[in-house]
Amino acid sequence: MKTKHKTVLLQEAVDSLNIKPRGTYIDVTLGGGGHSLEILKQMDYQGKLIAFDLDAEAIKRFEALLIENNIKNENLEVIIVNDNFIELESVLLKNKITKVDGILADLGLSTDQYLDSNIGISFLENSELDMRIDKTKQVKAKDLLNGLYEKELIKLFEDLADIKFAKQLAREIVQYRKDKSIETTKDLKAIVQKVVPFSYRKGVQRNPEAKVFQALRIAVNDELLNLRSLLPLAFETLDFGGRLAVISFHSGEDRIVKNFFREKKDNNKIEYVFKLLTPSEEEQKANPRSSSAKLRVVEKILK
Ligand SMILES: C[S@@+](CC[C@H](N)C(=O)[O-])C[C@H]1O[C@@H](n2cnc3c(N)ncnc32)[C@H](O)[C@@H]1O
Repeated sequence: MKTKHKTVLLQEAVDSLNIKPRGTYIDVTLGGGGHSLEILKQMDYQGKLIAFDLDAEAIKRFEALLIENNIKNENLEVIIVNDNFIELESVLLKNKITKVDGILADLGLSTDQYLDSNIGISFLENSELDMRIDKTKQVKAKDLLNGLYEKELIKLFEDLADIKFAKQLAREIVQYRKDKSIETTKDLKAIVQKVVPFSYRKGVQRNPEAKVFQALRIAVNDELLNLRSLLPLAFETLDFGGRLAVISFHSGEDRIVKNFFREKKDNNKIEYVFKLLTPSEEEQKANPRSSSAKLRVVEKILK
C-alpha cells in the first residue's frame, strides 16, 4: 500500500515555488505524494492545496498518508481530485478558486505504476499491453500496435522516443501481426529483440525496450497533448508573482515546456526563476530514474 516512488528533485522543486503559508498551491501530479507533503509542510499546514491524479490508487494512498500524518486543521483545506489535470479550470471554478500562488507538475508516471504488472508499462514481467493510467480510455497499447499503419508506427516511435530503429521495428510489427496479434509485453519484447539483438546493444541503444515502451505509454495516455493543454491553463490560473514549476523526463516534454516559457518570456509575461535544474549526482546515483529529469521554473510578472 505504501508508495515505492522516490520523489525527484523534491527540495529543489518545492523550494522554487517560494511557498508562503495561507497560500493556494496546486500539485497537478500527486503520485506518491512526496512533493505535496513538502508543499504542505512549507505552507505551515495553512492555506489550500489542490492535488490531481488520474490514478485512483495514488489518491487512496495520499488520503491514507494525510490521516497517518495527522494532517488536518481548520486553517488547511486539501482538495484531492481524481481526474486529468486538463480539468484544472472546471475544478477551480467548482471550488470557487480564482487565482493560485504556485503550480507544480512532475510529469510521467510513478514507480508504483511502473511496478504494477496489471498496467503493462514495465516490461519486466509479462502482462497485457494496456498502459492506460485512465481506465476509462478506450485505446490500449496493444490496439495501437495491432491497428496503426506502418507509417503511423514509425512516426510514433520516432516522435515520442527518438527511436533510431523505428523503421525496422514498424516493419517487424507489421510482419508479426500477419500471423497473430500482439497482446503481451512478452510479444513486444520478442519483436524488439529481433530488431535489436543483444550483441548490438550499446550507447543510446543499450535498452531499446525502455524506449519502445515509453513511446507507447506516451501515446496511449496522450501525455504530450495533456502537457500542451495544461501549460496555458496553469499560466492563466497563476496570480502575478505566482510560480509554475515543471519537471519533465524526456526531450519531447521538455521542448514543449521550453517553447511555452520562451514565448511568455518574449511577451514579457514571465521571469525565469532559473533556466534549468537537473538532479545532483548523488540523487542520480540514489535514484537512477531521476537522471533524465529537468526542472524549469518561471514566475508570472505584471508589466
Ligand atoms: C512522476 S509521478 C508524480 C510523483 C510525485 N510528484 C511524488 O512526489 O510522488 C506522476 C503522476 O502524475 C499522474 N498523471 C500523469 N498524467 C496525468 C494527468 N494528465 N492528469 C492527472 N494526473 C496525471 C500519474 O498518474 C502519476 O501518479
